[in-house]
Amino acid sequence: MLQKIENLHAAIAAFKAQSKEEVEQFRLTFLSKKGELNNLFSEFKNVANEQKKEIGAKINVLKNAAQAKFDELQATFASTETQNLDIDVSLPGNPLQLGSRHPLSIIKQQIIDIFARIGFTVSEGQEMEDDWHVFSALNFPDEHPARDMQDTFFIEKNPDILLRTHTSSVQVRVMEKTQPPIRAVFPGRVFRNEAISARAHCIFHQVEGLYIDKNVSFADLKQTLLFFAKEMFGADTQIRLRPSYFPFTEPSAEMDISCSLCGGTGCNVCKHSGWVEILGCGMVDPQVLENCGIDSKVYTGFAFGMGVERITMLKYGIKDIRLFFENDLRFIRQFSAAQ
Ligand code: DAH
Repeated sequence: MLQKIENLHAAIAAFKAQSKEEVEQFRLTFLSKKGELNNLFSEFKNVANEQKKEIGAKINVLKNAAQAKFDELQATFASTETQNLDIDVSLPGNPLQLGSRHPLSIIKQQIIDIFARIGFTVSEGQEMEDDWHVFSALNFPDEHPARDMQDTFFIEKNPDILLRTHTSSVQVRVMEKTQPPIRAVFPGRVFRNEAISARAHCIFHQVEGLYIDKNVSFADLKQTLLFFAKEMFGADTQIRLRPSYFPFTEPSAEMDISCSLCGGTGCNVCKHSGWVEILGCGMVDPQVLENCGIDSKVYTGFAFGMGVERITMLKYGIKDIRLFFENDLRFIRQFSAAQ
């Protein structure tokens, strides 16, 4: 039996294969069910007990050698097969397509970052709201047109529940659960039942700001917004506040910036006025503070709200708001470099 093992070792070592078929022949001869190794294992049963240890070990060595040889032969043919394929491994690969950030996300983040630099934190409310947080707490009278079915998406089964029409609702939520000082911005998506056009969409985004503390004045509002305008649109940017009306602020104003495209000399974007409106703002109405459980004799504050689409369109010179929602990669990819 020892002799047989020797012979098989020699045969395995000497085996040469020219093709895959011959490799298979090797497997059949040595490693298959009816192959030489299995024959040896059958004969092993008849080996005398005192020799079993020695011969058993030798058969195992032989088996490992046969398996190793088989693996080696197989590997040779596997690799010659790929080598024969017509592949130029020096060609560059197909790069993975990386995503890019949506222009609205880029600008929203820039707005948040600018206010973060002067101590504003960030909170997000909820898109589905109730009448109290969107309208009543903010002093909207019952007959106010914003409450109208034409402007607001109501939930059919319960008209007290609606999709928020502005992020001012987050002011109410934050003031209800936090006592001043409060200094935060609230980015989010808002919904209005409006016809879609190049300038308006039924879904858009706003960033709301709120600062409540002792002795907060209109001068603080003005300086904060001037800082924002210069950071966002460049150090030469000027601002202009025009008196306006919002139910939840008194006094209220709309803010224009000097046109960032023509620098104030007049162009299509600013309709040749040199100014473009970018946000609404004002001193929080004392009644709103009281509605939210904040003592209006101790605290004052300001609020502002801006449209992210509007700022983005101005920054990048985009003329049609619908482009933001079409998800055409040729459009979206253009902004990744501007992060
Ligand atoms: N919520 C207003 C809107 O959607 C924007 C706004 C105006 C927010 C004045 C404010 C503000 O906080 O003070 O048109």
